[in-house]
Amino acid sequence: MARRPPASAPEPVLVVEPVATTAAELSAALGAAEVVVCCGSGGVGKTTTAAVLGLQLARDGRRVVVVTIDPAKRLADALGLAGGLTNDPSRLDVDAPGELWAMMLDTAATFDGLVRANAPSPEQAERILANRFYRNIAGALSGTQEYMAAERLHALHDDPHFDVVIVDTPPTRNALDFLEAPGTLARFLDHPLFKLLMMPTRRGLKVLNVAAQPVLRTIGKVVGGDVLADAIAFFQAFDGMETGFRDRADAVMALLRSDATRYVLVAAPKRDTIDEARYFAARLREATLGVSALVVNRSTPSFGIPDQAVGRDTADPVLSALWANHDELAAIAAAEHDQLAPLVADVAPAPVCWVPMLPGDVHDVAGLHEIRRLLFGPDRPTG
Ligand SMILES: Nc1ncnc2c1ncn2[C@@H]1O[C@H](COP(=O)(O)OP(=O)(O)OP(=O)(O)O)[C@@H](O)[C@H]1O
Ligand SMILES: [Mg+2]
Repeated sequence: MARRPPASAPEPVLVVEPVATTAAELSAALGAAEVVVCCGSGGVGKTTTAAVLGLQLARDGRRVVVVTIDPAKRLADALGLAGGLTNDPSRLDVDAPGELWAMMLDTAATFDGLVRANAPSPEQAERILANRFYRNIAGALSGTQEYMAAERLHALHDDPHFDVVIVDTPPTRNALDFLEAPGTLARFLDHPLFKLLMMPTRRGLKVLNVAAQPVLRTIGKVVGGDVLADAIAFFQAFDGMETGFRDRADAVMALLRSDATRYVLVAAPKRDTIDEARYFAARLREATLGVSALVVNRSTPSFGIPDQAVGRDTADPVLSALWANHDELAAIAAAEHDQLAPLVADVAPAPVCWVPMLPGDVHDVAGLHEIRRLLFGPDRPTG
């Protein structure tokens, strides 16, 4: 259904401001949030949206940290992350009563940090860090990135320096796996194989004795004796740390499922990204989590020009070419609204915020401000 501008609009006006009610709803949706998760398919504008929401919340006086995952180079520059991976947050110079910090998740460094922080002794930490099995799983095990994002989220949420953590998810269909990642780790720690591997240390036996157990001998034949010995050494070194990991996993699960966490879904008016967004919305619904807001990024702007506006029936070729152009854009915008209708229905009653395609990409704080104004309305006085 084509959206018609109100017939009573007095003058031709280019609508570049958000619908005030939507902006207010978006602000309300984020108001008391302690965690905001931005999700959507690849390239739709998740990182941009995460940064823009961070900017707005900082303007609202909150101390915000944005955790990004592999941002586009120019966006990384805009976020002051030009130096590459910075696993610790760095503060952005923004004109706001609150604070805006940003960091890029470094999975392996986060895991190393956790091991150092939780090992009962520096020697045990070093034993784990040097372990080949650990070195292989620290970055490579599927789900490690999601799990480390969850661990990082836990630490930042607990950090009294920050009021709100904004998490940018990776561009994969599995982006919401981190909802389950902490649970997966807890299940893994409860797994009989893990218990079996841990048993020898509890009984004070040596690795060699473990490897002599029939079940492990069989595993060793399949994966290789060295790999098994490394794995056993790793789990033995891990002994005593699993309780902390499990406790944090439970805490993050509870946080992600609590009212303190809001999910912002980002989509673009393209079939594949809409399908992906509907998939995300369905997964959130399955987890009994609602979408707090839908951002439709890179949309075709709507023009608030009434059909009967001055000059509609002009004979002037320049003006009539402009009208033809306007009608074409209006038809595209209407088609985009039609295409997005099922997604909008899926996320109802969440506010739907339309962000038009800008002439260039977003590569500095000024660009982020531009999108912020499109989402939240003209600048209000700060403070
Ligand atoms: N409304 C917009 N108009 C123009 N360019 C935009 C807009 N929103 C985002 N961009 C640009 O599009 C590119 C992709 O945006 P962004 O990196 O935020 O997407 P993403 O969803 O995080 O991508 P990925 O899935 O690769 O992480 C960036 O260069 C960004 O500057
Ligand atoms: Mg991104």
